[in-house]
Amino acid sequence: MRILVTGGSSTPGYKLVLKLAERGYDVYAQYYSHEIPEIPGVRRVRLDLRDSDKIIDVLGDIKPSIIIHTAAVGDVDLCETNRDFAWRVNVEATKAISRFASRNRSFLVYLSTDYVFDGERGMYREEDTPNPVNYYGLTKLVAEGIVASSTEDHVIVRASHIYGFGMGRVNFARHVVESLSKGQPVRALVDQWLSPTLNTLLAEAIVEIVEKGLRGLFHIAGERVSRYDFARAIARRFGFKEDLIEPITSRDIVFKARRPRDSSLNTEKAKQLLKTPFHSLDHSLEILYREWLSARGV
Ligand SMILES: NC(=O)c1ccc[n+]([C@@H]2O[C@H](COP(=O)([O-])OP(=O)(O)OC[C@H]3O[C@@H](n4cnc5c(N)ncnc54)[C@H](OP(=O)(O)O)[C@@H]3O)[C@@H](O)[C@H]2O)c1
Repeated sequence: MRILVTGGSSTPGYKLVLKLAERGYDVYAQYYSHEIPEIPGVRRVRLDLRDSDKIIDVLGDIKPSIIIHTAAVGDVDLCETNRDFAWRVNVEATKAISRFASRNRSFLVYLSTDYVFDGERGMYREEDTPNPVNYYGLTKLVAEGIVASSTEDHVIVRASHIYGFGMGRVNFARHVVESLSKGQPVRALVDQWLSPTLNTLLAEAIVEIVEKGLRGLFHIAGERVSRYDFARAIARRFGFKEDLIEPITSRDIVFKARRPRDSSLNTEKAKQLLKTPFHSLDHSLEILYREWLSARGV
């Protein structure tokens, strides 16, 4: 089975590529500015997703039965300040990919975000009404609509703060580990709540969704926690000093883009349908810790 993963060089996409290759799929991994290392069974495809005609050409050459679309401009502040760029990658590219999927009967999986919600309540279910508070969330919500209206053969997976090692932008957990390992302090918000999602577990859940042929909208995420408690839990598991985590409130930081206060996700629907375990935060951090040790050859 031929599967194309867009954003194969991102924190979630790279783990997905590894997991699919491990399961023996014929994997095509798209990237743009960060080259994916050679992986047995994986063909790497360099493609700028701002070029919709090129997208259609490349997809036409590959002819994937399944497309897992994770590529996006994920930097929330960059989306706010460079709206045209964010729209082209997050919306226009999704439009081209969805059009291809619908015409060629490819199954389409779209990776979306908790930032489609305004964060006033938290623990959002799939049927709750989105109301993005920043441009990034808006582009992802518009893209969800495009996917859903283009083809019935789709799944939309919303995750919340994806963290882990591998490739991709430095995520918060990686920043905490890297700073604390050098004895440097980390500031963390006590008044922002999320459901941090380990990339390894997200990849397992998406593979299971694909293999089960599920359709629709699913929230896949970890336990709800504040950013501050998340950072302290990382410090504890990795054996770093917890008091290097400095509590701050959102009044202490000026972001370019507004953040939802509590964008945590309710994952009951997915838990009932999937065998993939939705681990506790401590268990997920245990996995992260083991991955960190093994990357250092320990
Ligand atoms: N970060 C989170 O906490 C979070 C939470 C929920 C959902 N998500 C979703 O997860 C996905 C990845 O997010 P992320 O934060 O890891 O994003 P990211 O760091 O900005 O990475 C985005 C990916 O998209 C690719 N990409 C960006 N612009 C491109 C372009 N013009 N042409 C081709 N490829 C391009 C990048 O490739 P190169 O780096 O090779 O250029 C990279 O693989 C997104 O769909 C995001 O909405 C993220």
